[in-house]
Amino acid sequence: METVLSGIRPTGNLHLGNYFGAVQSFVKLQEEYKCFFFIADWHSLTTHPHPENIRKSVKTILSEYVGCGIDPEKATIYIQSDVREVAELYLYLNMNAYLGELERVTSFKDKVRSQPDNVNAGLLTYPSLMAADIIIHKANKVPVGKDQEQNMEMARKFARRFNMIYGVEYFPEPASFHMTEKAMKVPGLDGSGKMGKSEGNAIYLIDDEKTIKKKVMKAVTDGGPTQPDSIKPEPVANLFTMMEIVSTKDTYDYFNDKYNNCEIRYGDLKKQLAEDINAFCAPIRERILAISSDDAYLEKIARFGAEKATESAAKTLREVREIIGFRP
Ligand code: TYM
Repeated sequence: METVLSGIRPTGNLHLGNYFGAVQSFVKLQEEYKCFFFIADWHSLTTHPHPENIRKSVKTILSEYVGCGIDPEKATIYIQSDVREVAELYLYLNMNAYLGELERVTSFKDKVRSQPDNVNAGLLTYPSLMAADIIIHKANKVPVGKDQEQNMEMARKFARRFNMIYGVEYFPEPASFHMTEKAMKVPGLDGSGKMGKSEGNAIYLIDDEKTIKKKVMKAVTDGGPTQPDSIKPEPVANLFTMMEIVSTKDTYDYFNDKYNNCEIRYGDLKKQLAEDINAFCAPIRERILAISSDDAYLEKIARFGAEKATESAAKTLREVREIIGFRP
């Protein structure tokens, strides 16, 4: 059976971008594949979070994973730092990862620009840790959003390189998985770019009805089309993209026709969009809130997941050590 793996950094609550880019696929794939879904707390250290924030954010993602419908009996849910074998594999991969290729990664270059006084080695080697996360369970499919494409390229490259150096066919090349035809990029509602926590334009799964409405009503638009069938400018196109994701096709077509006939009233569109986002989030929100106060249950899930993930990772590490030439 093929193996699926993916992870999310614990840097706050999950937003609609995380859900539609990744978590939605997790829930579907757990029915058919051997699945590992983890919380990438080591990755979050690149920004030097306070210990209390790590504890809180890890617990948040754990309850949100389960609230979204990931079933700890079907999929292995675990916390990255509970599986130390990953760090050992990261070390081995780093020995064959080169400065030039790591420096060329777009997200690294962005970080160099945005946080010049914290360009740490963890940021530089982010792709080798991500590759270790993936290949430690010999994953074949990795459900991720569009923004992870370059990291996925690197993971494939590092897996191939390991096989080549040691003359083995050991690690499979992990493929990105998308439920839709193309990789998903959920837009922000601030006019441009993608939805993201650091962009400050996110709608979170736990946002209540009032908050959702406030955020959507504030979304950037324009003066409206002046000619029939005109191309939508990015802020407006983003609203329609959100509608395509959360609303019915009829609703989307209705507003799209209104736009094409120059009869669109953005206030109506936003009101409908806010309602549809809320209808989508409400049941998930309720489950998250119910689970998040049950510390004993969350602890049990984390322990169970750590055990299963460690077993799988330890097996890989035993084999990798032998391939490299270390004592078993
Ligand atoms: P992270 O934590 O930034 O995001 C988690 C997942 O959510 C997706 N995502 C989006 N998808 C579509 N539209 C958006 N606006 C949007 N925003 C976020 C991301 O593509 C991602 O799938 N490096 C990873 C975490 C990671 C990982 C891994 C993933 C570490 N190791 C191994 C897969 C396999 C990250 O920072 O994702």
